[in-house]
Amino acid sequence: MHAYRANIVYTPTPDAFRYVELGYVVVNDEGRVVDVFEHLPAEYASVTVTDFGDKLLMPAFCDMHVHAPQYRNMGLAMDMELLPWLNTYTFPEEMKYKDEAYAKRLYTRFVHELWMQGTMRCAVFATVHLPATLLLADLFNDAGMGAYIGLGGMNRHSPQPLTNTTQQVVAGTIQLVEHCAAYSNHRVRPIVTPRFVPSCTPDMLQALGDLARDYQMPVQSHLSENMSEIAWVSKLEPETASYGDAYNKYGLFGQTPTLMAHCCYTEGKELQLMRNNRVFAVHCPTSNCNLASGMASVRTLLDNNVPVALGTDVSGGNHASILRVMQYALQVSKLQYTNSHGNLRFLSLSETFYLGTKAGGQFFGKVGSFEPGYEFDALVVDDHYLNFDNYSLPHRIERYIYLGDDRDIKFRFCSGQLINEPKQE
Ligand code: GUN
Ligand code: FE
Repeated sequence: MHAYRANIVYTPTPDAFRYVELGYVVVNDEGRVVDVFEHLPAEYASVTVTDFGDKLLMPAFCDMHVHAPQYRNMGLAMDMELLPWLNTYTFPEEMKYKDEAYAKRLYTRFVHELWMQGTMRCAVFATVHLPATLLLADLFNDAGMGAYIGLGGMNRHSPQPLTNTTQQVVAGTIQLVEHCAAYSNHRVRPIVTPRFVPSCTPDMLQALGDLARDYQMPVQSHLSENMSEIAWVSKLEPETASYGDAYNKYGLFGQTPTLMAHCCYTEGKELQLMRNNRVFAVHCPTSNCNLASGMASVRTLLDNNVPVALGTDVSGGNHASILRVMQYALQVSKLQYTNSHGNLRFLSLSETFYLGTKAGGQFFGKVGSFEPGYEFDALVVDDHYLNFDNYSLPHRIERYIYLGDDRDIKFRFCSGQLINEPKQE
């Protein structure tokens, strides 16, 4: 048992932050929160207390959509829409991950970057290359951070060096399952990852749907991001009622827990299918701006009871920080509010923080909050330079979301464990 003392901020529900000034989080030996207290109860009097003084203590971030092999392109090459962007910049970079030495060098930096940004849990796309993907899983495991790792499935409309066969992606994903099962903690896990409908033949999609069912693995992919992409999918899958319905046909749409990035144009039948199948929409507003894709209406998704989480989508997204994504999500929702003449209520600060913590955290179990039973995933933040004039705790968290960055994060915890800086080379 251990207690941490600081200014505690978290979102048990989207409607409001819970604040406890100079309070205590008691964490048990399994790394789970016992409870949050204003004063340490007598029964915990003998528990060791780590006092973080006037710092902030908040749940760590969950990045529910990010591409590890696009790390080198982060902040580059955003002068095209999705389909030419993939062919011109993204596929050539991802091809390099056939080279394990290259993969090791760049994936090491990628994991370090997520650590730096306070992202203790993520859902990651790797490439079609199994050795590099196993290496990425090892790097997350060595760091102690939580991640769903996906070996990409790609067997059509892709350059030959960036393809695999149905048999290879199925066998490779099973190897990834076995590889992850050997880790001593189970924070790094496999996820079934067809890149998107245009990259996978019906045969591959069906095999991956069957694999997800047989191994009870979650699924991640891309959905309704860009108009040209959507038009292409309706040509490739003319029998389906929507893009989402194409995944659904193959058992890749909520048959096991599913993350679908973007959903910029999701409406009507697709929206209903997402709600009925409990498919997560992963909102990636920085990427959607950069690739001029369009923009998901988070309010419409939430009003229709579709679960929503946040993703950086590096390198469509230009930055690996979920704080930045929160800021974009807030600001974009206000543009949508005015463009809809006030019909789409803009996001509140607490809703947005919830999306970046507890909403994504659900995918990992009880993660992203400090309620009893939650895994203690936390950041200790020193905001003293922002707090030069006695701001209230609500104002401190607001300023941290808008003005803070990774340099303010002093300590990171994942499942109760202090996560030290992973090596960079
Ligand atoms: N759709 C298929 N692949 C990708 C990708 O790498 N990034 C984004 N943003 N969309 C995709
Ligand atoms: Fe993506």
